[in-house]
This record gives sequence, structure tokens and C-alpha cells, in this order.
Amino acid sequence: MSIEDVRNFWERRPCNIRHSDKVVGTIEYFKEVSLKKYFVEPHILDFADFKNWTGQNVLEIGCGIGTAAQSFAENGAIYRGIDISPTAIDICMDRFKVLNLSGHFEVQNCEDLKVQQKYDLVYSFGVLHHTPDITKAVANIYSILKPGAIFKLMLYAKNSWKNMCIEEGLDQPEAQSHCPIANTYTHGDVYMLLKDFHEIDIVQTHVFPYKIEPYKRHEYVKHEYFEYMPPNVFSCLEKNLGWHLCITCKK
Ligand SMILES: C[S@@+](CC[C@H](N)C(=O)[O-])C[C@H]1O[C@@H](n2cnc3c(N)ncnc32)[C@H](O)[C@@H]1O
Repeated sequence: MSIEDVRNFWERRPCNIRHSDKVVGTIEYFKEVSLKKYFVEPHILDFADFKNWTGQNVLEIGCGIGTAAQSFAENGAIYRGIDISPTAIDICMDRFKVLNLSGHFEVQNCEDLKVQQKYDLVYSFGVLHHTPDITKAVANIYSILKPGAIFKLMLYAKNSWKNMCIEEGLDQPEAQSHCPIANTYTHGDVYMLLKDFHEIDIVQTHVFPYKIEPYKRHEYVKHEYFEYMPPNVFSCLEKNLGWHLCITCKK
């Protein structure tokens, strides 16, 4: 699978585009998209730590339709976002215009990154497992971080409930169905990939508990086996078999 396949996939269906039924591009639309994103993936708030980047240079790789972008900018980061999908970048630009936020967006492939300045934070949530050559992308990211700067990335976990379901043919389609590339990683793979970085911290989390059809209608009905699972057992499941490896490391 090539980078063109990846671009075409996300062009056809920008990530989270159906998180609201309101008219795309309106303030109400973006409000509902953010509410749904942070309701379904609440761990993003702790992981991204948006309030921590005020006045700092943040580059987001694979900004999608700009939900994290909005949060970084609202919290005063000097924000720049890139994505391989022109449609996603257009939506981000509309989003910042209608919300009167400042930031900079560009269509770029992170495997061929062209940026002049150095960053305090590079943030990439759910992107690099979709690119053909992640090693090349990570080397590019390393080169544009200031010494001591932070790289935060989320990668799909190989040892996860979701991956087990996918491998057994039990998965319900979500964002990555029919996705040309959706690699998964062990903790060991992450340490190898980030061998030039220091202080690598991996938090595993996120088991999606909802039935997919009501979820598409913005109704949150849990599968019975999750509905009746005690919260501490569910949180144990997320910690050990979650789908997201939320990784923080330092240059
Ligand atoms: C699953 S979406 C995640 C979007 C956003 N980070 C979020 O959390 O909502 C993956 C995004 O990565 C972008 N992407 C995939 N490969 C890329 C690459 N090589 N360079 C830049 N963007 C890429 C896609 O176009 C898509 O918008």
C-alpha cells in the first residue's frame, strides 16, 4: 500500500467527519465534534495536556479535522498542523476562521516533512500507524524537535482487546475499517522505534465499549459484557488491553 492509497482513503472519509449531523463548517458542528471526540476518547485530555503548551511551538502531525488543533490554540499554543489530506486541511482552516483562532495549516506528508523551525512539542494522535514508513516519519520528527523537546504519539496496541477481536473476525467496523494501513505495535516495538529518544513513557488505554449502530446516531449503548463489568475491572482491561498506546518521550 502506498502513501497515495493512504491519502485517498482519508480524502474519501476525513476522520471523525460524522461526529456531528450539523452542517460541516459551522460553530455548532465543531462544538459537537469536540464533545463527541472527548466523550468517547477522554484520555486525550490527560495525554495531550493542552493547558501545558501555552506560548510554545506545537506541531501536530495528522491534524485531521482539527479537534486537538482547536484545543491547543484555545489554550494559547503557537500551533501548526499538517495532514496529508487536503480536505482535512480545508476543514481545519474553516474551523479556525469560524472560531476566530490563530494557527497555521498545510498539506504535507510527514514522511517528507518540510518545516524550517524547531518545535517544543510534536503531537500525533492516531496517525503514524497509518503511514507506510513510520521509521522515516519518526526520524523527520526527531530532526525538527528542539533539544529536550517532547514528542507525544498515539499508536495502536498489538496486545489489545480490539486487535484480538480483529484477528478473530469479531471486530465491529470503526474508523480503521477498510483502512489501507493500520499497523499495531508492542511495547518492545515502541522502544525500538523511539531508540533515539529518552524518558519513554507508555500509557495503554481505551477499550471502546459501545454498540456501533447507536453510536453512529450519537447514542451511547454499551455491549452487555461492558455494561455489567465493574468499573475497576473495565479500567484494568483498558490498562492492559487498551487499543491506544499513548506515548510521551523526550529528545
Ligand atoms: C485517524 S486520523 C487522526 C486525526 C487526528 N489526529 C485525530 O485524532 O482526530 C489519521 C489522520 O492522519 C493523516 N495522515 C495519515 N498518514 C499521514 C502522513 N503520512 N502524513 C500526514 N498525515 C497523515 C490522515 O490524513 C488523517 O487525517
